[in-house]
Amino acid sequence: MSQSRKDTLVAWLNDAYAMEEGIVEVLERQVKHMDEMPDVQMRIQQHLELTRSQAERVKSCVERLGEKVSKTKSVFANAMGAMQGMGTGMAEDKVLKDALADYAVENFEIASYMSLTTAAKDVGEYEIARVCEGIMHEEEEMADWLRQQLPVVTEIEFHAMAM
Ligand SMILES: [Fe+2]
Repeated sequence: MSQSRKDTLVAWLNDAYAMEEGIVEVLERQVKHMDEMPDVQMRIQQHLELTRSQAERVKSCVERLGEKVSKTKSVFANAMGAMQGMGTGMAEDKVLKDALADYAVENFEIASYMSLTTAAKDVGEYEIARVCEGIMHEEEEMADWLRQQLPVVTEIEFHAMAM
């Protein structure tokens, strides 16, 4: 394997790790204000646990390449924070704003893992490619679920906001 491409793959996996760690923090905050929508809350809680396991799996990929994950926050993590700041600031549409941001994030994750899968295969790291493709499918499932929930959450919060 080319040394420089291996380094690039490590850097990209590190970005994915930082991204998952950032998402864990965001989801931890989200679950707290979803008491009025227990079904959504339960699914977000499940995704929070899944995200922790994804971070661990990405970490193992980095270690497989003989490196350690770095703790520095990437642009991905910063983007997550920025996305969280969006919103009206009104309590009534909080879950909707979370769902909008989550849908965007899930699609970003799908794109990231698709790219990582391609890069890992390119350097013959098939086990890493398998892990990244598996995570991509988990993100696709979550994105599909969010897509179904968006109209439902919109109706509920839109009606709760004003007469
Ligand atoms: Fe994820």
